[in-house]
Amino acid sequence: MVFRVESNQTPMGTEQRQAVLDKPVFGTVFTDHMVDICWSEKGGWHRPRVQPYGPIPLDPAASVLHYGQEIFEGMKAYRHEDGSLWTFRPEENAKRLQRSAKRMALPELPVEYFLQSLKELIAVDGDWVPSAPETSLYMRPFMFAKEAFLGVRPAKKVAYYVIASPVGPYFGGDAAPVSIWLSTTYTRAGRGGTGAAKTGGNYAASLLAQAEAAEHGCHQVLFLDSAEGYYLEELGGMNIVLVFKDGTLVTPKSETILAGITRDSVLALAKDRGHTVESRPISIDEWKQGFESGDIVEAFACGTAATVVPIGQLKTPDFTIGAPDAAAGDVTLALRAELIDIQYGRLEDRHQWMVRLDS
Ligand code: PLP
Ligand code: COI
Repeated sequence: MVFRVESNQTPMGTEQRQAVLDKPVFGTVFTDHMVDICWSEKGGWHRPRVQPYGPIPLDPAASVLHYGQEIFEGMKAYRHEDGSLWTFRPEENAKRLQRSAKRMALPELPVEYFLQSLKELIAVDGDWVPSAPETSLYMRPFMFAKEAFLGVRPAKKVAYYVIASPVGPYFGGDAAPVSIWLSTTYTRAGRGGTGAAKTGGNYAASLLAQAEAAEHGCHQVLFLDSAEGYYLEELGGMNIVLVFKDGTLVTPKSETILAGITRDSVLALAKDRGHTVESRPISIDEWKQGFESGDIVEAFACGTAATVVPIGQLKTPDFTIGAPDAAAGDVTLALRAELIDIQYGRLEDRHQWMVRLDS
């Protein structure tokens, strides 16, 4: 695919950009350019462009605005010590975007176009990848239905974009523990629904529950399964993993959660270290009892934005376990450090997860 590159004639000044890069705040400032590829039923993927970052012209009848036919991805570009720019397992994001597309009746973007779109954006906005510790350039590929039509059916015109924003740690950083709130009022996804797709509606559905979490002084909400309200699913924007005293790591097995790439990677690193890793249903009672008996010794959340964060406290309407400032566990800290060291090129990438973006 040959991209047409239209340069931004009024890019942010070097000094102002540097000030942003020195103290990036998640998802608030965006780079000078964005990628834009069109799709139509007749013409397939076409008109690949890199253009100045800016508003997207959209017909008020565009079906995304009415029926929410939209999907997205989240990944990061890391600057290594020698200045080179890398991303982490982008093929997995490309494949997940395809799975999300399938579920949301959107066209599947070929993996090679997805990878190229990231490289094209980095080719013009590479200077936006920060270098301070724990910072990166968060890349947000997304796709939506832009056909102006109010009938309810898959759109015949679709847009794919990539925007990017320099970011620091999603939470406080330095592996500060987070508190999570168990929602017994709301669920995120049901059997046969869209829980496994990375689609905007899942996040819209989580907002009230997330607000409830904030009212209880928590950073994130934890959802239970919708059928029984008993088994752990995931957080609003992260997966969850529990660590048992015998070194076993357990993460919820469910068709209705997002298959996190961070989780998959952390569990692979844990296996390499000799841990047993299980993906199985895990109930809220099992966590409570395991915490009280000392069988469950650590819990962490994981995702691209958050990396790996220790869960200090779980609050529910009925009970609380842990404490907001509980010390992070050794297993959590070791896995977090190993993952981050691989991503920043400080440790051998023995799984060949890193892909160079600037060459
Ligand atoms: N679950 C949800 C709901 C998410 O939004 C995310 C973040 O992308 C994750 C899990 C973790 O996925 P990943 O590790 O691929 O970023
Ligand atoms: C990500 O981690 O990439 C997400 O999409 C989650 C969101 C909380 C920013």
